[in-house]
Amino acid sequence: MSKRMSRFTAVIFDLDGVITDTAHYHYLAWKRLADTVDAPFDEDFNEQLKGVDRMGSLELILARAPRSFTPEEKLALADAKNRHYQELISTMTPSDLLPGALGALDAVRAAGLKTGLASVSKNAFTVLDRLGIRDRFDTVVDAARIANSKPHPEIFLTAASQLGVAPADCLGVEDAVAGIASIRDAGMFALGVGRPEVLTRADRVIASMQEFRLEDY
Ligand code: BG6
Ligand code: MG
Repeated sequence: MSKRMSRFTAVIFDLDGVITDTAHYHYLAWKRLADTVDAPFDEDFNEQLKGVDRMGSLELILARAPRSFTPEEKLALADAKNRHYQELISTMTPSDLLPGALGALDAVRAAGLKTGLASVSKNAFTVLDRLGIRDRFDTVVDAARIANSKPHPEIFLTAASQLGVAPADCLGVEDAVAGIASIRDAGMFALGVGRPEVLTRADRVIASMQEFRLEDY
C-alpha cells in the first residue's frame, strides 16, 4: 500500500472502546458506584461519561444523586471506582483487542502514516502494556500530558503536534460523543465507531473497527 492510499498523514486513535472494550469495564465500575449513592444510571446516561475524565464523570453521576458530597467523599468515591476498574483490567491480555483494531493499526503504518493514541485515562499505559501494543504508536497522549479532558480539543491537538502533523491532515477515531467533539474542534476528520444516532457530529460512523478501511476516508 502506498501513502497515496490516504489523504491523511496520521491517524489518532482513542483507546477505551476503540482499541479494546475497556469502555464496558468503565461502565460496570461507574454503575456499581452510582448504585451505592442511589444515582440513576443506565447505558444512555453512560454515553455522556465516555471519554470524560474520572473526576468529571464522577461529578456528572453525583449531580443525579439525592444528596451532595464533600470533596473528601468525592475523592474516596473516585478511588473506589478506580480500584474496581483496575481489578477488572488486571486480567486483560492481547486477546482483549477488539476485532479489527490491530489490523487497523498495521494498515495505517503499512500505508506510511503515523499512529497516535489520545486517551484521557490515567490507566492508559497499563492497558496498552496488558494488550502488548505500546510500541504500535508513534506517540501516546494520556491524562498526565493534558490539562483539559475531552470534549476539549487539547488532547488531539497535542497528539498531532507531537507527531509533527497539521490537525487538518489527521484522522481521529473515537467511540464517544465527547471524543468526537474533541476531534472536530481540533479541526480533524472524525471517524466514529458505534451508532450514528449517538455520534451525530462524526464525519463518518462505522459499527466496529472491523469496518475500518483507510482508503474510505
Ligand atoms: C476515558 C474513558 O478513556 O478515560 C472514560 O472513556 C474514563 O470512561 C476516562 O472515565 C478516565 O479513565 P481513568 O482510567 O483515568 O479513570
Ligand atoms: Mg473511548
